[in-house]
Amino acid sequence: MNDISINDIFNLKKYIDKEINICGWVKTFRANRFISLNDGSCLKNIQCVIDFENTEPEKLKKISTGAALSIFGKLVNSKGSKQSIEIQVNEFEILGESDAEIYPIQPKKHSFEFLRENAHLRTRTNTFSAVMRIRSSLSFAIHNYFNINGFYHIHTPIITASDAEGAGEQFRVTTLDIKNTPTDDFGNIDFKKDFFGKETNLTVSGQLEAEAYAMSLGKVYTFGPTFRAENSNTSRHLSEFWMIEPEVAFMDIKGNMKLAEDFLKYVIQYILKNNNEDLMFLETRLLNEEKQKPKNERNELSLIEKLNFVTKNKFKVITYTEAINILKNCKQNKKKKFKYIIDEWGADLQSEHERYLVEKEFKCPVIIYNYPAKIKSFYMKLNDDGKTVRAMDILFPGIGEIVGGSQREERLDILLNKIKEIGIDEKELWWYTDLRKYGTAVHSGFGLGFERLVMFITGMTNIRDVIPFPRTPQNAEF
Ligand code: 4AD
Repeated sequence: MNDISINDIFNLKKYIDKEINICGWVKTFRANRFISLNDGSCLKNIQCVIDFENTEPEKLKKISTGAALSIFGKLVNSKGSKQSIEIQVNEFEILGESDAEIYPIQPKKHSFEFLRENAHLRTRTNTFSAVMRIRSSLSFAIHNYFNINGFYHIHTPIITASDAEGAGEQFRVTTLDIKNTPTDDFGNIDFKKDFFGKETNLTVSGQLEAEAYAMSLGKVYTFGPTFRAENSNTSRHLSEFWMIEPEVAFMDIKGNMKLAEDFLKYVIQYILKNNNEDLMFLETRLLNEEKQKPKNERNELSLIEKLNFVTKNKFKVITYTEAINILKNCKQNKKKKFKYIIDEWGADLQSEHERYLVEKEFKCPVIIYNYPAKIKSFYMKLNDDGKTVRAMDILFPGIGEIVGGSQREERLDILLNKIKEIGIDEKELWWYTDLRKYGTAVHSGFGLGFERLVMFITGMTNIRDVIPFPRTPQNAEF
């Protein structure tokens, strides 16, 4: 392995006038002399200048876009105007050739659709390498936030027998022979004969297990993959995505909102501070894209201005009832411009409504709380009015819902009633209801969709472009 990266040589002065070794992939090769090399450690390429007169022509021919090279040479201040430093190459080795004729990542602009089909190579482009470096940094910032705030990181199971969200959109996990499934006396599939002796699925959320740990360790979080078999082919939905779920004992809905806002501001601030080069690149990319749009459709804020805006301003907090009143009376609704017209309390908010509230009405992140019990999950705490629950969603500009959470129902009798009402067998949740029998207490938590946050921070508009290998309906390539 080579110890020095291109990022190091640009950032650490100590390598100037030293003999170094760098490995990377050729971005371009021009005039049989200048190699532009990138190793993924940062956006910048290093120019490597070859003494072509003393290099075998056969070897020169192998320096083509996409080839992997090991370069030995002296790092010097460049005389050229386009770069500050360059390597005067003494020796180089072709580690892996690349057929430039058919190499998919040509030095030109490619569409995101094309790059999705070449997801194994798309991080060789500036845009995708910038997005994935930010994704990595964001993951670190998230762990950092919880670590400095006294949270314990727990690994909740990926295979589970419970459906936390109660929506039933799960991927089944089985070792039964699907062509010849065993049946019981009633002709139903006999899951007792399955690997775990019961029906199991990939988890949709680590929340229920996180609750158990919050009720002993106090402040915990889980950050893992979650799976949803809903057939939503949208730019905001994945079938496999990563979710961050903190869960805190003795914290109510107000504390939950405060935690979520503080956490989001911290991690965005972290990226603003630590990923400046990649953010500036993505900002320029977006500004160029904006120029193609009609003036009235252009974003008022640039990417970095938008991120600063979120970290510096308080989120707007409103109840569901207030949100419905605003939506019912807005021009868009009255002129029937929404696909789903809001005419009564109890309606589920669609993405178009969420975006109206955030982008048109308040122009800042919005927290909506106290939703109708009927449209929310069974575990949420029922308010005294008997019809709303202490749920909260956080909506972000350009994204819509980014966080969903709640205060949890800690009263055993009310929780059991709810479980019965929605038709779950209470025996399946015996351990979850046990938590309400032994030292129950107010507790709350939320789930943040990691990819939705990466979208917001990078300005990417399709969720498939912020996860290395997206899983969506009819697509599990790579
Ligand atoms: O609102 P959701 O379904 O909440 C839960 O799963 C709770 N158990 C969380 C908790 O309280 N611990 O999902 C939480 C977030 C959403 O706000 C959204 O950002 C993201 O997860 N999300 C998705 N992201 C990508 N693709 C999907 N199909 C998503 N579904 C939800």
